[in-house]
Amino acid sequence: MLQKLEEVKKEFDSQISSVTSIPDMAVFKADFLGKKGKLNALMGGVRDLSVEEKKSFGARANEVKQEMLDAIDKRSQIIEIEAINSKLEKNKQDISWTDRITDKGQQAAGLHPLTKVTRELEDIFLSMGFDILDGPHIEDEYHNFEALNIPESHPARDMQDTFWFKDKKHLLRTHTSNLQIRGMETHKPPFKFVGPGKVFRCETLDASHEAAFHQLEGMMVGKDISVPHMIHFLRTLLSEIFKSELKVRLRPGFFPFVEPGFELDYECLLCGGRGCSVCKQVGWVEALGCGMVHPNVLKSGNIDPQQFNGFAFGLGIDRLTMMRYHIDDVRHLHSGNMQFSEQFRAY
Ligand code: FA5
Repeated sequence: MLQKLEEVKKEFDSQISSVTSIPDMAVFKADFLGKKGKLNALMGGVRDLSVEEKKSFGARANEVKQEMLDAIDKRSQIIEIEAINSKLEKNKQDISWTDRITDKGQQAAGLHPLTKVTRELEDIFLSMGFDILDGPHIEDEYHNFEALNIPESHPARDMQDTFWFKDKKHLLRTHTSNLQIRGMETHKPPFKFVGPGKVFRCETLDASHEAAFHQLEGMMVGKDISVPHMIHFLRTLLSEIFKSELKVRLRPGFFPFVEPGFELDYECLLCGGRGCSVCKQVGWVEALGCGMVHPNVLKSGNIDPQQFNGFAFGLGIDRLTMMRYHIDDVRHLHSGNMQFSEQFRAY
């Protein structure tokens, strides 16, 4: 009897590692330890044994049963862990790799060129120690106009066609210059920050004009900042973005919130300056407005213009993206056309 018991145990030991699922384990367990299992079948012969033999057989049978139960527990845990690991392996997603076909056969998503350029700009400014600000698209009159030295009935309010809300006090911001005011509310000089974002104007659309487009506002305030500082800074910025020296020109420009004010153009990279629909045949594209912050604007931010000064600029991100990727119409950027966007997956 004892020998048969050891044979059953041997059989159990040799088979358990080939059980690979929990349902199979239930069948295996019943086969050895169930009512009609191999161990119970041996118990039927116990009545023919002597008292001494019954004792030693009973003790060993209990040991074997416990060893089997322990082995079943151990193996079941391994099976469960293996099942979890294989599930994880099957559903593994490499979220850092965007340029590939997914398990479902779809092309994985890539970043829109506007997002790429905006992130690149943010990285450049972060590396130069600038803070990055965010601000509301729905703005009040004060932050979009009044605090920027554009009082009510000032003709400059008509420079940008505004989408007003019915209450006539709120609007869709016409530029990111509202961030100058919002930034001064949270920063004490000296400071430097930039803020990218969407702006809205009731424009007639063409190859270089959109009604909803993107700007990046920048403001640097400190002591003894001058126009040459600003020019050097903007040149450095543009050559960082284009990774080469770019032909730029500075013209006087009027913005009520700066004095003096300028507009900076770059040579149109789409036609190499020969003239096209993007540059309206003049060979130059307006990149940004800039200037020395007007004393009235500093006062709106509770900053003493006798002590501090600085410069501000508002860069058109859409046009910059067009130059960077040689896109010949700003409307492509907002078209939602996948065939267009897919061209930039590899950049
Ligand atoms: C402004 O919006 C000023 N707030 C910029 C500024 C900031 C000046 C700080 C001084 C100091 P402007 O309207 O020129 O300026 O727009 C700035 C840039 O946005 C332009 O140079 C151009 O690159 C881009 N831009 C303007 N209108 C559009 C449009 N409809 N579609 C696409 N880009 C545009």
